[in-house]
Amino acid sequence: MNAERLIRIFDRQATDYDRKREDPKQRRWRQKLIGSAKGEVLELAVGAGANFPFYPQGVKITAVDFSGAMVEKARRAAGQYRLEADCICADIEDMSFAAHSFDTIVSTLSLCSYKNPLNLLEKLNRWCKPDGTILLLEHGIGSNILVTTLQRALNPLLYRIYGCHQTRDILGLVRESGMQIRRAESYSLNMVHLIWAGPEEQQL
Ligand SMILES: C[S@@+](CC[C@H](N)C(=O)[O-])C[C@H]1O[C@@H](n2cnc3c(N)ncnc32)[C@H](O)[C@@H]1O
Repeated sequence: MNAERLIRIFDRQATDYDRKREDPKQRRWRQKLIGSAKGEVLELAVGAGANFPFYPQGVKITAVDFSGAMVEKARRAAGQYRLEADCICADIEDMSFAAHSFDTIVSTLSLCSYKNPLNLLEKLNRWCKPDGTILLLEHGIGSNILVTTLQRALNPLLYRIYGCHQTRDILGLVRESGMQIRRAESYSLNMVHLIWAGPEEQQL
């Protein structure tokens, strides 16, 4: 699907994402993960700012999303939670930052929609400081045969409606990117993963 069409799909969902910000189901996971953020933070595909209630005091956030409607909601949420956040409307797959720019990089429920998720994870390795942390909350293919059959069958339809692939192998992609997984927790029949990682060790 081309980027313009995907942006329209997410623009249409912005009000729903804004309403779901304090959704108790996801709250537990987000609170657990985002509490580890510190310093200069990059949040990819920020949506309507679902993680904003959970950032510790003192972080400085650069938040990116290519949906203008989502960015508008995220800006308002940043004000509501008194966060220092620069919300940028851009395609993260086309962006570049200097190497070692961020102490923390956050991605929640976004690897499902990129054209090339592995390429993006490799960029995160470069953008993160060597002693920084990459925090991921991502969904993908589960481990239960009945569920995975259903995920594969519904994937084309759900991608067209919501812009999210259901069948990506999240742990496999993260391992392939060379990120150093420090801690990982899986939920919902292994469809949802919380990951605390360090960037791939780079040759200097
Ligand atoms: C499923 S939503 C998740 C939003 C938010 N991260 C959350 O946890 O609720 C996916 C988000 O990724 C954004 N997105 C998808 N591909 C993108 C890209 N290439 N560049 C920037 N944003 C993108 C969409 O606009 C949407 O806001």
